Amino acid sequence: MLRIAVLVSGGGTNLQAIMDAMDSGKITGAEIAVVISNNKNARALTRAAEHGIKAVCISPKEYESRAEFNEAFLAKLNSCKVDLIVLAGFLVVLPEQMIQSYPNRIINIHPSLIPSFCGTGYYGLKVHEAALARGVKLTGATVHFVDEGTDTGPIILQKAVEVREGDTPEILQRRVMEEAEWVILPRAIDLIANQKVSVADGHVTIRA
Ligand code: GAR
Repeated sequence: MLRIAVLVSGGGTNLQAIMDAMDSGKITGAEIAVVISNNKNARALTRAAEHGIKAVCISPKEYESRAEFNEAFLAKLNSCKVDLIVLAGFLVVLPEQMIQSYPNRIINIHPSLIPSFCGTGYYGLKVHEAALARGVKLTGATVHFVDEGTDTGPIILQKAVEVREGDTPEILQRRVMEEAEWVILPRAIDLIANQKVSVADGHVTIRA
């Protein structure tokens, strides 16, 4: 059984999609060992608790420095003995030590088709604002492994979503979540849990 930590900062709809996929058998061979948030008010934490999953908050506000917070966060994660870390709307920059401790064992969901609208400053609604400002006709979501860069790691899955006339950032965000994020994030976890994903030279191969 693959033990997963899901890291969250906000609403937790992607976390919900993962829990639902586990309940319905769309994800096999994996369990959520812990949900960790940097934000004590994250709806994601109550979603986890309602599902009987251990939910903890480690807030930077409770530490004197960023370094101390990073240390506490990594210690908590290590103590949970997880095989895979899933960033599901986690809006904190990961400490380098964490990335090095879990090579190709951290995945992230990003709400655009990388390499468009990604990198520093592109998160949440800002991604969709930028897509609408550029006038793209297609956007989507990407699941990728996390490396030392921002949104630069090997791409696992992508799914395109149509932009429609009259879309607002909020409407587009919702469509990207429903049609892409909630589909490809659970699928990527299932593929990893069933040893179908390999990485070589920065590229992902998926076995049928
Ligand atoms: C999602 O749209 C996710 O793709 C995005 O934050 C939202 C979290 O929603 N992540 C990023 O922008 C990361 N760069 P949720 O808490 O309801 O899952």
